[in-house]
Order: sequence, then C-alpha cells, then structure tokens
Amino acid sequence: MDKNTLQNLREDYRKSTLEEKNASENPFTQFSNWFKEALNAEIPEPNAMVVATVNKEGFPSARVVLLKGFDEKGFIFYTNYNSQKGQDLLDNPQCAVVFNWLELERQIRIEGIAEKLSPEESTAYFHKRPKKSQIGAWASPQSQVIETRDILDNNLKNLNAKYVDSESLPRPSHWGGFRIKATRIEFWQGRSSRLHDRLNYEKNANNSWKRTRLAP
Ligand SMILES: Cc1cc2nc3c(=O)[nH]c(=O)nc-3n(C[C@H](O)[C@H](O)[C@H](O)COP(=O)(O)O)c2cc1C
Repeated sequence: MDKNTLQNLREDYRKSTLEEKNASENPFTQFSNWFKEALNAEIPEPNAMVVATVNKEGFPSARVVLLKGFDEKGFIFYTNYNSQKGQDLLDNPQCAVVFNWLELERQIRIEGIAEKLSPEESTAYFHKRPKKSQIGAWASPQSQVIETRDILDNNLKNLNAKYVDSESLPRPSHWGGFRIKATRIEFWQGRSSRLHDRLNYEKNANNSWKRTRLAP
C-alpha cells in the first residue's frame, strides 16, 4: 500500500459533544448513559473492550474481552484464570480498559485494580451460559501452546460424550470473573479539528469522584 493511502485516512468528528453541563457528576451514571446510547445505536458488540495487563517483568499486553456487568463496584469480565491475562492480573492487578465506539466517535478509558469475583458469583454466571460455552471453558487450556487444532476437537468430543445426559457442567475452578475497580474513568467525544472533549473522573481518597477536563 502506498504511504499516502494511510496518511490520507482522516475523519473529522462532528456527531456530538460532551459538555460539563450535560455529563453526570458520577462516572458510572455517565458510563451507563453512554452504554445505553451504544446499544441504541446498534453498534456491533458494544460490550467488547480491550483490557491491558502488565506481566511480572513489567511488559504490557492487551486483548479484547466482553463486559458482562458493571455497577459502582466495578466492571466485570470472565476468563480463564490460567490464561496470560489471568496470570498477569493475579500477579499485578493494575490494569487498563478501552471501549472504542467509532460509530459514535467515542472512547472510554478505565484504569483500576482487578480482583477475582467470588467463586459463587463466577459459578452463578457460568451456569447462565449455554452448555456449549460451558464445554468450551473446559475444552481449551487458554493461552497454552497446543500442537494441533485436533486437540480442541478431541477435547470437545470427549466432553460432549461425558456430559451427554447433563444439562450443564460444573464450573472449572480455573474459570471465572474479574471485577475491575476503577480509579479513573475518562470519556472522550470526538470533535471537529481534533479539538475533542475529554472529561476525566478520578477517585479521591474519600471515595468521591473529581471531574476535570483534559486537553485533547
Ligand atoms: C470480540 C471478542 C470477545 C472476546 N471475549 C473474551 C472474553 O470475554 N473472555 C476471554 O477470556 N477472552 C475473550 N476473547 C479472546 C481474547 O481476546 C484472547 O484471545 C484470549 O482471552 C486469550 O488472551 P490472553 O492469552 O492474553 O489471556 C474475545 C475476543 C474477541 C475478539
């Protein structure tokens, strides 16, 4: 591809604005409002978010996961605790999240501390998942090297046979949720001429939130 093609890709953002007078003082209310708007806009998988973790050596990595719940306590996703992200978060719970809703010219950035959900919370959600997904959680040693695709297909076949008469499977102890307790949440609305709106909420020592505007 010639370099001009990439260098000329450019959008001017004009869809909306983010003003102090219209934004909530509470970042969770603001998140909830924007999430509803993302749902209404029917953007594909609005709950897909990038989670960045840092390993023991201080090296970062990032991947997409699905948000499965949020409230004032935090943002929840589910995964394999033995995966790379799982191990990273157990070693170093500091992490960052990005939602990128291009259709709305919006980005949300969250930083915080991840903690494992209680086994009861993880089990309750595991059993809400379709049986196929429950089998998948058992079948895949997430983030491990596997010799061939056949390993997964064989695991699947064996699990299907083992649980043929069961409606659901037990939750693997290595599978469950993390709750990311936010310490910073930033809402970014694209504006014209690269003069975007950024409202940033930071948690104070007394657990209240301080809102500031950041330069784009
Ligand atoms: C749209 C989308 C949603 C995903 N949702 C999840 C999820 O909720 N949990 C998960 O463990 N992996 C999910 N993945 C897969 C991860 O991106 C990643 O490949 C996997 O978790 C292994 O990451 P790790 O080796 O860094 O731990 C999703 C991928 C995509 C593209």
